[in-house]
Amino acid sequence: MDRYFEDRLLEEDPVLSEVVAASERAGLPAIQLSASQAKQLELLVRIAGATQVLEVGTLGGYSAIHLARGVGAKGRVVTLEIDPAHAEVARRNIELAGVADRVEVIEGSALEILDSMIMDGDGPFDFIFIDADKESNVGYVERAVALGRPGSVILVDNVVRDGGVADESSERPDIVGTRAMMDLLHDHPRLEATAIQTVGVKGYDGFALLVLS
Ligand code: SAH
Ligand code: DHB
Ligand code: MG
Repeated sequence: MDRYFEDRLLEEDPVLSEVVAASERAGLPAIQLSASQAKQLELLVRIAGATQVLEVGTLGGYSAIHLARGVGAKGRVVTLEIDPAHAEVARRNIELAGVADRVEVIEGSALEILDSMIMDGDGPFDFIFIDADKESNVGYVERAVALGRPGSVILVDNVVRDGGVADESSERPDIVGTRAMMDLLHDHPRLEATAIQTVGVKGYDGFALLVLS
């Protein structure tokens, strides 16, 4: 079905094909969003009417390019990446996609960068996409709340993992991290949330969709 939807709903996009190929050539892990998920991200940004977007976890810039397309020419995307090699590939890909003027890649530990952004009074961001080390998901959501405003949308990747996230006995750090985030959401006073489960070329996974009040 994913191939079918890609074929019917997504346009041939030589730039995106080259972005994926360049990331692969550079030896980056192929863990970026699938084409259908990335389009979903772009459309969610547009539905939210977001112009100020924050991303945690850039990799080769594939999702950041979709965020940039979602915000349009007058929008701005800030994306955080700890691995300098990933950040370098991302900057080249973002340039290739023609959105370098609206995307800033900041290198470093996301928790530290987010804390300094909070200290500096940055934001508010209309839309925040969290897709880095899952162990830090609680910390990322807490900081996203601080950098958002009432109505901000927060989207968190990889909250299904083939059903692994429902496994209470799992000791996998990523699962434990994502489950801790779900516990935080369970009775968070300012966050309403649901999950969008996805199945496709990346297997069975999904996003948590949060709205801040
Ligand atoms: N959003 C990307 C995929 C991100 S993969 C896309 O769909 O195209 C996760 C990325 O998070 C990796 O590049 C990894 O290096 C980065 N990352 C992991 N831990 C991090 C941290 N503590 N701070 C910032 N980035 C981190
Ligand atoms: C994997 C997939 C992801 O979307 C991610 O953010 C990290 C890892 C994976 O398939 O291993
Ligand atoms: Mg992910």
